[in-house]
Amino acid sequence: VEREGGSNQERSDGTRAEACTPSVPGSARGRPDLFPELDLDRDSMARLIEAVSARVLEHLESLPAQPMQSTESAAAVAARLDEPLPERPSALESVLDLLFREVIPCSLNTAAPGYLAYIPGGGLYSAAVAEFAAAAVNRYAGVWAAAPGAADLESQALRWLAELLGFPAGTLGVFTTGASLSNLLAIVAARDKRLSSDAGDASRPPLARGTLYYSSEVHHSVPKAARIAGLAAAHARAIPVDASFRIRVDLLERALQEDRARGCRPFLIIASVGTVNTGAVDPIPDLAELARRHQAWLHVDGAYGAVFRMLPECAGALKGLELADSVAVDPHKGLFLPYGLGALLVKDIADLQRAFHGAAAYLPAFQGDGRRLDFCELTPELSRDWRGLRLWLPLKLHGAAAFRETLRQRRAQARAAWERLRAEPDVEMPGPRDAPPELSLFAFRQRRPGLDAAAENRANRELLARINHSRRVILTGTEIAGDFYLRFCVLHLRTHRERFEEALAIVLAALAAGRRAPRIDP
Ligand SMILES: Cc1ncc(COP(=O)(O)O)c(C=O)c1O
Repeated sequence: VEREGGSNQERSDGTRAEACTPSVPGSARGRPDLFPELDLDRDSMARLIEAVSARVLEHLESLPAQPMQSTESAAAVAARLDEPLPERPSALESVLDLLFREVIPCSLNTAAPGYLAYIPGGGLYSAAVAEFAAAAVNRYAGVWAAAPGAADLESQALRWLAELLGFPAGTLGVFTTGASLSNLLAIVAARDKRLSSDAGDASRPPLARGTLYYSSEVHHSVPKAARIAGLAAAHARAIPVDASFRIRVDLLERALQEDRARGCRPFLIIASVGTVNTGAVDPIPDLAELARRHQAWLHVDGAYGAVFRMLPECAGALKGLELADSVAVDPHKGLFLPYGLGALLVKDIADLQRAFHGAAAYLPAFQGDGRRLDFCELTPELSRDWRGLRLWLPLKLHGAAAFRETLRQRRAQARAAWERLRAEPDVEMPGPRDAPPELSLFAFRQRRPGLDAAAENRANRELLARINHSRRVILTGTEIAGDFYLRFCVLHLRTHRERFEEALAIVLAALAAGRRAPRIDP
């Protein structure tokens, strides 16, 4: 049914929606609620959002009671989803049933309080609402002239983020989908500034001579991004780490000198601020000094760790962050947002413009003034969602202090857990025994005297399985120097005291069960 503007409109089922009539879901009237039109009238929009919102609220309210993982139904869900292209509308409630009863529960419960796995995301509700609003009004903020208000709001959110991280005024950047992309953008920007892909460009050394440096603990997205940027493994140097899993500055310096001596052009050093295995933070001032001496770009992969710069108690560990040419930081980690919001902050926005500029006669004129940003000039993307609203709205609604306080609590919980587990005589943390986690993550394993390395690894995998079997908490594991460790990462906005204590009790009980477990044959 094609409809006119206004609110007194004919619906597909022939009824009329009166202005200001309270909406009654179709199912409540004994009929399925159907939405055959694409351009919904106000009443239909209200019914749709109310029905979805009711399901979302029910889901979020029941999060604490939900299992932390439930993926056994994956095959059944896949079979259920495998259906012919729906030519006709489906009833709303049956669609929502499928989503909320079958599809969504079949997962690791990344939104629930017991999620201490990987680097937790959050699911901050106000950010989800911002995402909905941004999509519903559908402003295009990729080119400033198309939506100056929306683009300036996004720039403001970037400035606030830079300020939270202690960057000097003037720092800007771009919101991305996450740190994998932010790392890629930084590598491309550094490459294009310091190296030339054109052999005829005498001012810069050729791409083939470029070398980049990071620690052996770097996130895998970095070597992957280097490869995508045309810098295959032969260009990249993974520098060994010290006992605290920080890059060995002496070995880095030696590698830089050796590479120079053999005619390479070191152009990029990447610091890890918050490694995934142990939360280690590379010594940024030392790396900044080396980058300065070698005219190299310093990029910080602070996907997880950079936000801890908000806490005065972390200022020492994250000293020098502001010396970086660029930093990748993920609001969908330490600022508790739903997945899909990362950021790359850069000292000089012209570096991104150089790498990603592309003009066309059919586009509006770009601003080119370094303040009014045309985001399509700063990434490979042209069409993009108005993603800055996802950070702007929560910062306005809750205030930065709320974020700082939540992050502070999570860090305190991680340190308390570290302290408690360290007191167990058979628990081993990698690295110095008396060094608490800098951020909110640590690794541990249970030593099993008498077992060889392989059997001990198996025993720790079983320990992890025992913990996760509770379905009240999820941890994940990793390998460090060939040994299997469990990781304990507290970053979720919903991990309040009760669940944290329960999680810790579950880990302690699983350790105790490990001590009683029959000897595993090597
Ligand atoms: C240190 C680090 N770098 C990069 C990434 C990749 O980030 P994303 O998953 O947002 O692409 C992660 C993800 O956990 C990370 O922890």
